[in-house]
Amino acid sequence: MIPVITIDGPTASGKGTVALAVARRLGFHYLDSGALYRLVALKAIRVGVALDDDSALARLASELDVHFDDERIHLGSEDVSEAIRQEAVGVGASRIAVCPSLRMALLKRQRAYRQPPGLVCDGRDMGTVVFPDATLKIFLTASVEKRAERRSKQLIEKGFPVNISSLLQDLRERDARDAGRSLAPLVAAGEAIVIDSSDLSAKDVVEAIVSRFSG
Ligand code: CDP
Repeated sequence: MIPVITIDGPTASGKGTVALAVARRLGFHYLDSGALYRLVALKAIRVGVALDDDSALARLASELDVHFDDERIHLGSEDVSEAIRQEAVGVGASRIAVCPSLRMALLKRQRAYRQPPGLVCDGRDMGTVVFPDATLKIFLTASVEKRAERRSKQLIEKGFPVNISSLLQDLRERDARDAGRSLAPLVAAGEAIVIDSSDLSAKDVVEAIVSRFSG
């Protein structure tokens, strides 16, 4: 059985940074499942597919020509690593995430990343839906203010403009949408270990996860 560590949690909780660092520490593969939703949203916006057209979105998802190359993400021959991080694309991703056929189209794709020697993945439903038999399940959270602060830093570093009050509102709306949807809602798996990272550094969280896994 190939080991899997799932890290789920709300937007901007630090899942991505932590999951990548845990994967590196253990020499495991890493799957950023949110990037898949962002890629489909980006593609839909570009080609003019409505963000609630489930069957058209599912088609886009199954045809998606995506390559994860270390930390860069390519759609076809284009490097879209920065483009998919724009807030508008994140909001689009959370809107399309309620579509059942789209989620189904992405399910198989996500499971294919389970390869030896192991996988670390992050998202909303990694432990509940995609890898219910995961070896270790983490639910990573933090206060909304802390998350807004982290997200704004990230966006500024990438050269995007930031308005902190609209960012806070955006995070609250996204939390409500992710937690309130009927399909694969954002919820901690029953057996998940909940970590509140409001007052922890990314390094502390990585240590906590690696020691749980190894111990
Ligand atoms: O960076 P952030 O945490 O805001 O988002 P992300 O992990 O890149 O995911 C973007 C959106 O995709 C989220 O708002 C979720 O609605 C959706 N998503 C999902 O539904 N299921 C996943 N496994 C991952 C992301």
